[in-house]
Amino acid sequence: MRANLCMVPPMGWNSWNTFAENINEELICQTADIMQAEGMAQAGYRYIVIDDCWALRERDEQGRLVPDPVKFPHGMKAVSDYVHSKGFLFGMYSCCGTRTCAGYPGSFEHEFEDARQFAEWGVDYLKYDNCFRPQHMDCATLYRRMGLALANSDRDMVFSACQWGVQEVHDWIRSTPAHLFRSTVDINDCWNSIRDIALSQMDRQSISGPFCHNDMDMLVVGMHGAGGTDYIAAGGCTDEEYQTHFALWCMMNSPLMLGCDVRGMTEATRRVIMNRDLIAINQDVECRAPFRVSCESNPPEGYVLAKFLSNGDIAIGMFNLGDVAANLSVDLWDLGLGAKTGCRLALYDCIAHQDAGTEGEMLLCKIPAHGCKVFRGRLEMK
Ligand code: GLA
Repeated sequence: MRANLCMVPPMGWNSWNTFAENINEELICQTADIMQAEGMAQAGYRYIVIDDCWALRERDEQGRLVPDPVKFPHGMKAVSDYVHSKGFLFGMYSCCGTRTCAGYPGSFEHEFEDARQFAEWGVDYLKYDNCFRPQHMDCATLYRRMGLALANSDRDMVFSACQWGVQEVHDWIRSTPAHLFRSTVDINDCWNSIRDIALSQMDRQSISGPFCHNDMDMLVVGMHGAGGTDYIAAGGCTDEEYQTHFALWCMMNSPLMLGCDVRGMTEATRRVIMNRDLIAINQDVECRAPFRVSCESNPPEGYVLAKFLSNGDIAIGMFNLGDVAANLSVDLWDLGLGAKTGCRLALYDCIAHQDAGTEGEMLLCKIPAHGCKVFRGRLEMK
């Protein structure tokens, strides 16, 4: 069934960051409505995912998971049909342990019947968490088990392993059927969380690639402090910080799962998340790992990432994660170029959406605190 499923990082929306347990049919349908009206499927956002807290606290007598009838009075198939009718794909959530993180029934030792149930409901994407895992079970076994159950159901389902980066996940995850793997702690809506997650994965990029993507967690862009739990609502960020967050996730090939309330997006939020030039870098078919480019004159909190794109272009992201404005440089020699090659790079600014001149040797930019620049460079040969 699953040939070519999830070749590039998945994009969509997930209910957890803003709504936590306050989810229901109306919210999901309204989200689908607004995402359709905003043209978000065309921009690449295809999955609408219901996170934790959708079920009753106990399984039924036949051992089946039961959607909470107050939150989802028409059941999950009706929600799934609605989401599909709006041109999106439908995602749900379960957990490899005996309970989900919020205490609802987990799929431990119910994997194959739950996978069948999700397939019957028309689920296209399963986020699979890591709470209440019995002590004698390791993650790899349980993620392999659910991966097999999904791969052998009669429906294409993306398998999102929400594994938090424990038990050396980078060493074995590509051997499981997972299409994406959470490699970090939960994000929250503040600058330090964004910075720390990005730094924790910066040197672990080479493990991420087509069909199995390093998931740095859902985006907090546009939340402005409106998190669904005290942990997530950590004060919010400025629009510039959200821009840097989005650019980092794009350059680092992370899935792009929105976590804000899309029903009330500001123009600034819309501009960040609908940036087609950054999304094109994230969705490049070859999923080449970005690499770090250092330069002696750069401050310690200045990071430059470069990523080779499938048409021969080079994406260059310059990130100032520090608290004061800084000059950042890239020596094009470190990208395989420089004067001796006779090549120059015609630069396009992917945030201002305009040409940014041509460079042969050095790229130098002044970048505000917590800010960034992302260029797409096209080679000009002599
Ligand atoms: C864990 C996950 C989160 C979210 C919650 C739900 O913390 O990492 O992304 O799914 O559980 O309870």
